[in-house]
Amino acid sequence: MEFPAEIIEQCQSALSAHQLEGFLTGAGNEDADIMFIGEAPGEKEAETGEPFSGRSGKILDSYLEALAITRTDVYITSVVRSRPYKWGERRPKGEPVLKKINRKPTAKEIFAHAPLLDYQITAIRPRIIVCLGGVAFKRLLGNKATLSTMHGKPEFSPVQKREQDAYQWSEETYTVFGLYHPAAVFYNPSIRQEIGEDLHTLKTVIATM
Ligand code: URA
Repeated sequence: MEFPAEIIEQCQSALSAHQLEGFLTGAGNEDADIMFIGEAPGEKEAETGEPFSGRSGKILDSYLEALAITRTDVYITSVVRSRPYKWGERRPKGEPVLKKINRKPTAKEIFAHAPLLDYQITAIRPRIIVCLGGVAFKRLLGNKATLSTMHGKPEFSPVQKREQDAYQWSEETYTVFGLYHPAAVFYNPSIRQEIGEDLHTLKTVIATM
């Protein structure tokens, strides 16, 4: 999706000193009824420009398969469009090497990138917004929203949008559905069963929309 140049300019100039790389606009069907929002690109995504083209993308594809839909049926985007990284030591062959390591986006980065996500939500007007992980969930529903207790059911709520220097609640109500981020499976494989149950509920929500 094309963005107005001033939105990109404003967001990138606010973060010029931050450790961020790449820039993804999002991908998929701009007329979609369902929008998936991730956290931020990882190494592979920053390289290819394609959301969820790395390891967690395979897990996301299994979510879509469980929902009997494909990437061309939905729009996939993220809270932050560039890969947040830090330098850290890794020992892939025993010898220490300095590498860029993924890190969580900061509140400042999330706020700076907010106009991009707001623009897409307004342009696409999805009937269901699926938040992949707590960062996306809190970005839309506010800091009091906790994915661990609220995942797996639809929330009918206004969403946060950035207005000048603060978030404001949207006038419109959206259907927001929280799912665990696909990468959560790597840290906690036993979560798969719960994700399966949530996907089952989401499939029912999609069928009734
Ligand atoms: N995590 C995300 O949130 N987005 C990606 O594209 C990859 C991993």
